[in-house]
Amino acid sequence: MNIILLGPPGAGKGTQSAQLVKHHGMRQLSTGDMLRAAVKAGTPIGLKAKEIMERGELVSDEIVSGLIDAELAAMGEHVGAIFDGYPRTAVQAEKLDAILARHDRRLDRVIELEVDEDALVERITGRFTCARCGASYHVRFMQPETAGTCDKCGATEFKRRPDDNEETVRTRMAEYRAKTAPILPIYEARGIVTRIDGMASIEEVTTAIDHALATA
Ligand code: AP5
Ligand code: MG
Repeated sequence: MNIILLGPPGAGKGTQSAQLVKHHGMRQLSTGDMLRAAVKAGTPIGLKAKEIMERGELVSDEIVSGLIDAELAAMGEHVGAIFDGYPRTAVQAEKLDAILARHDRRLDRVIELEVDEDALVERITGRFTCARCGASYHVRFMQPETAGTCDKCGATEFKRRPDDNEETVRTRMAEYRAKTAPILPIYEARGIVTRIDGMASIEEVTTAIDHALATA
């Protein structure tokens, strides 16, 4: 099964992808994570993307589509893909269709996480991740079981994303409204969109996604 998780910054795409990976053995393809890895490694793509991401704007359609294509090429053909944060523009949606066709895959479902924008700033400014394995937490909604220690790998150092400040979040939301929300009708016309209340608890959202995929 191949699915898209669609929703504004902080909607819970990464959090829910982690659940799908854990419970269904799917593979998370997050263009945001891939770009951050490229920035950290100082690759040519990372050098191009760094300032764009810090401003909260979108990196070019060609770069992100190339990353997705390469990841799919390296994946086992029976492993399901979760597209997290891709596609984000009409051009990317078109490119994804072509990429999927090339890899002999079809798009089974688009999950839209519906959220209240005012709550997203709190979610994003409270987010922190493990400096070693990247596991994601929140100061209020998802603390590690033992304070100061990562549940997954036991590391004790955490970090925050440079684009997780209120000003950049506002730009990221504006980009979502202007360029990403308008691609939904493409998938609605195919009858594959499920809308889920992303303001429910993390566990409730996971249950709703499981239900949507079981009946897809
Ligand atoms: P990306 O990394 O994709 O960021 P984003 O879309 O802004 O989304 P986030 O990762 O911030 O949010 P999320 O929905 O994953 O939320 P999370 O689960 O972490 O992209 C970053 C940048 O890269 C872009 O701005 C752009 O520059 C570039 N880029 C990436 N892809 C691109 C593309 N395709 N084209 C062009 N440019 C691209 O949750 C957030 C917090 O809330 C966490 O702390 C979590 O614990 C908490 N939380 C989650 N769910 C709940 C819940 N139900 N209740 C309470 N708290 C919750
Ligand atoms: Mg994310």
